[in-house]
Amino acid sequence: MERTFMMVKPDGVQRGLIGRIVSRLEDKGFKLIAGKFMQISEAQAKRHYAEHEGKAFFDDLVGFITSGPVFAMVWEGDDIVTLSRMLMGKTQVTEALPGTIRGDFAAHTPFNLIHGSDSPESAAREIANFFDEKELLTYNKSILDWI
Ligand code: TYD
Ligand code: MG
Repeated sequence: MERTFMMVKPDGVQRGLIGRIVSRLEDKGFKLIAGKFMQISEAQAKRHYAEHEGKAFFDDLVGFITSGPVFAMVWEGDDIVTLSRMLMGKTQVTEALPGTIRGDFAAHTPFNLIHGSDSPESAAREIANFFDEKELLTYNKSILDWI
């Protein structure tokens, strides 16, 4: 079972899309093991997007992600990194296909509504930046036996 870090970004919170985004992840059969409505600090934002430090869009990205509350989550499922990236759609809104979260709801990059880890290694690093180990819950979700 794989884990991923996902986050409804400030634009998704402002637009009232938390529920619909979470629904899509639930509909797929993923298992939610942690969730937190929170304000990211600048230091935390810079750690989260460390791979992009030095790029032209970095400062704007940190400004955007710290501009208001986000809904941070950890989800579990087989191949969840790959599958959740497919549900999210491409980074650039001009490439995000209809049917994906970004393709259906986002019209301007970088306001693409949702973050999802791009590898299991990134997921481990990103989860540790947002959650304590004890916040990751263990419980039985029996519907997973049927999907
Ligand atoms: P990236 O990690 O490449 O995309 P993703 O969110 O799909 O993993 O980039 C992080 C965010 O930075 C992206 O969601 C939007 C923003 N961004 C830009 O504003 N311009 C860009 O050219 C890129 C690549 C990203
Ligand atoms: Mg990324």
